[in-house]
Amino acid sequence: MTTTAKNFSDLLLTWFKDNGRKNLPWQKNISPYKVWVSEIMLQQTQVKTVIPYFERFMKRFSTIENLSNASLDEVLHFWTGLGYYARARNLHKAAKIITEEYQGVFPISYNEIVNLPGIGRSTAGAILSLSYEKCFPILDGNVKRVLTRYHGVEGWPGKKKVENQLWEIAERHTPTRSIRQYTQAIMDLGATVCTSRNPNCNSCPLMFRCYAKGENTQHNFPQKKPKAVTPERDTIFAILENTHGEILLEQRPLSGIWGGLWCFPELSNNSKIKTTIKERYGFNIKKQMEYKPIKHTFTHFQLMIKPVHIKLQKDKGYDSKMLKWVNPKRNQTLGLPAPVLSMLVDLGNRKRVILNES
Ligand code: ADE
Repeated sequence: MTTTAKNFSDLLLTWFKDNGRKNLPWQKNISPYKVWVSEIMLQQTQVKTVIPYFERFMKRFSTIENLSNASLDEVLHFWTGLGYYARARNLHKAAKIITEEYQGVFPISYNEIVNLPGIGRSTAGAILSLSYEKCFPILDGNVKRVLTRYHGVEGWPGKKKVENQLWEIAERHTPTRSIRQYTQAIMDLGATVCTSRNPNCNSCPLMFRCYAKGENTQHNFPQKKPKAVTPERDTIFAILENTHGEILLEQRPLSGIWGGLWCFPELSNNSKIKTTIKERYGFNIKKQMEYKPIKHTFTHFQLMIKPVHIKLQKDKGYDSKMLKWVNPKRNQTLGLPAPVLSMLVDLGNRKRVILNES
């Protein structure tokens, strides 16, 4: 007797019989409208959160025409708490298109479906396979995880080349029968077994053929988006202290980082501290201490701040429009960048770590 080795979809379909989800609200009296609404709700949200929203939505908007006649405000009201409200706006817009252009009947061809607002290739595939039982592949986040692990697909799936490769694989695995069960099965496997953390490989029907399981590298797939290297800039904050223990703050120009906020005088990283302070402010230095650097992260770069605490020979000085002496022990009332405020507070509490003193 010969046995034929089961392929990917056979293994999933067998697993689905005992383990798949078959009683979700959108799986009862299946219609393209129900599948569409559920797929849109499920795009960024878990099944257990979606269920009550789906039920309320369907009770209120029982047909595509009902939905298209409702106001956007009301549709958004039924979406409140689900998040990603563009989904609701697109759903409403698409309902109007279906009512006007397709007489309220959900279209049946791939091109018509994928052209509706809010529907991409994967959602179109899910609607076609789950409701019309047409053999189209899907590739949502769960499926990407299953496929990258099973085949050891390298690279971040957000990259076009990797995504195209995954679509080819998804097409190859899509069976020509039992498509509704297969589509649900691969999504369910990703959601319940092939989870991103602690996958339950021992209950997986694909475990003996899975590349990542074989190599014990499940957590390397799918690969993450490469982190952009944020450039680093170095700077010196001169903490100038007069003989009364007051610190000099300088208002920054309105344009540029921390525009208009009050900051310690900033010196470029390669400047000669003593000379610059003398030239810029006319102060003589008594003593100088370097503190541990502070890293401050902006969206586009990291600022490495070297704080240098400089005790001046100067006694109480004048305030001007752009310069103010402040007592670090008092509550500050000026607009200060976060690292400046925390440094001032630490200075008031004498809490800085001195690296060197001269
Ligand atoms: N995620 C997206 N579509 C789904 C579905 N039909 N069932 C369960 N999870 C899903």
